Amino acid sequence: MVDAKQGLSVLGSLNMDLVVRARRLPRPGETLAGGPFQTFHGGKGGNQAVAAARLGASVAMVGRVGDDAYGAELRRGLAAEGVGDAEVRPVPGCPSGVALITVDDAGENTIVVTPGANAWLLPQDLAPESGAARAIQEAAWLIAQLEVPLDTVLQAARLAHAAGTRFLLNAAPASQLPEALLSLIDVLVVNRVEAAAVLERSRVGAPSGLARALRRLGPRAAAVTLGDQGALFCDGARVLRQDAFAVETVDAVGAGDAFTAALAVALLESQAPAEALCFACAAGALATTRAGARTSLPRRAEVDALLRR
Ligand code: RIB
Repeated sequence: MVDAKQGLSVLGSLNMDLVVRARRLPRPGETLAGGPFQTFHGGKGGNQAVAAARLGASVAMVGRVGDDAYGAELRRGLAAEGVGDAEVRPVPGCPSGVALITVDDAGENTIVVTPGANAWLLPQDLAPESGAARAIQEAAWLIAQLEVPLDTVLQAARLAHAAGTRFLLNAAPASQLPEALLSLIDVLVVNRVEAAAVLERSRVGAPSGLARALRRLGPRAAAVTLGDQGALFCDGARVLRQDAFAVETVDAVGAGDAFTAALAVALLESQAPAEALCFACAAGALATTRAGARTSLPRRAEVDALLRR
């Protein structure tokens, strides 16, 4: 066990987001005229690392980029935000991850990700004594998502567990999870679609009972984001509910990442669960008020101001 654990380690994806706005999302087989094209730094891992850093945490990231111009730019983006990038390595001969994103007038989106180098973050990259393993063992909390191989996430969770590092999994994109992983999770964060996948149900119905059902699968706590209906958190018998903050939504891309990172930061700061859930909802709401994923992630002062209001 490593003494004096501090800060967050984030294991996950880095993508370049290629974004176009359209009046509405296209139907299958349909071609739509869109608005201007923009590129943003993205990837759920990179977004959560940057969001946590903007909220005041010390963050080290473990990930992979391509040996292309996007990869170099994505690494510069992390460094500029003060995120430790020593364990974000380029994969020779491989392109960076890319996300093709459409955002409609209501701020809703569709995202298709081509993983590129993210698929090359392998369990053996977390070998004992490796820099990546040390980053996980030395952190107080590890955050991961599912845009890198599941075996690598499982290996990271095992390392974290053995080192006394607490583990928050944002199970996005939606996927079933093996029991071996579920039992290692301290906090599971999902939206409704992801909850259905984890519970292996086609639909989840009413939110009541959802967080409890997820927790029964093994995690010590479960948080469920419900969009404009707020979020739930269950860490035992009780289910806490937080209403959504009323904000003007421009683009919901990155809102889940802001929520996840803020929840981890609040728990790292030993905030009480209700306070942590409120903090996370405030960060998630602010992220919907601006375009892009990385560009929309709020800073600490903005979240504190929304909470005071
Ligand atoms: O959660 C939003 C992110 O999902 C985007 O930045 C995109 O890269 C995908 O990973």
